[in-house]
Amino acid sequence: MPGLKPERIVILTGAGISAESGLGTFRDKDGLWTRYDLTEVATPEGFARNPALVHDFYNARRANALDARPNAAHSALARLEADWPGEVLVVTQNVDDLHERAGSRNLLHMHGALSGALCAACDHRWPAPREMDADAPCPGCGAPRIRPDIVWFGEIPYHMDAIAEALFQADLFVSIGTSGEVYPAAGLVQEARAAGAETLEINLEPSRVPGIFDRVIAGPASAAVPDWVDDILTGC
Ligand code: OAD
Repeated sequence: MPGLKPERIVILTGAGISAESGLGTFRDKDGLWTRYDLTEVATPEGFARNPALVHDFYNARRANALDARPNAAHSALARLEADWPGEVLVVTQNVDDLHERAGSRNLLHMHGALSGALCAACDHRWPAPREMDADAPCPGCGAPRIRPDIVWFGEIPYHMDAIAEALFQADLFVSIGTSGEVYPAAGLVQEARAAGAETLEINLEPSRVPGIFDRVIAGPASAAVPDWVDDILTGC
């Protein structure tokens, strides 16, 4: 796997990388979508129907994320970015900030972040307080239409142009802790393959269609990711 020349590595992460930090995944047994109706809490239509319910959901997730600590998998990716002679980009579907708290800097949050607030009326953005209140006015325009800066179902993920550009140049694409159920993130592996990148999946158990990845490492992220980072850095 390790090349003699610096490689460009694009890493896609999902809820599985934060599971061992105590944050719930979505589709595993007891996952968030087994307990909540995603159409009520993660769509613009659900927000229009009941903004207070949506804020309660994300306030609880923000509190969990603030109390959580990065685990060994987040730290290993930050170490890879620091020590790899080429470029490492982490594209995360996660809305927690555990990658940045572990030290990742070249990072794109394609589904937004719990740390951000957005006005649905004027698009003003500002840092979210720990608790957002549906009735609070936007600090920009004063409208009581504030929402978490999270990409909901039916909305377009952030940074898609930058992600496409990075995949076009990638030599290695690694998918960590994601079920591959949600597009467009689930299609990034195909884009990387089409551009000629090698592909690797790290997950508790191999997900998805056999053969979609060149290689699969099965195991908990907190062990499997540091082991893989050790291996790839050893070859530098
Ligand atoms: P999912 O809950 O769909 O998938 C979590 C994946 O993590 C599964 O494939 C598990 O096998 C794996 N996993 C669980 N624990 C793990 C561990 N300790 N180590 C390694 N892997 C582990 O979560 P995502 O794929 O992130 O979007 O979900 C994608 C999107 O769907 C989310 O960003 C969110 C959700 O609806 C929005 O809310 C827009």
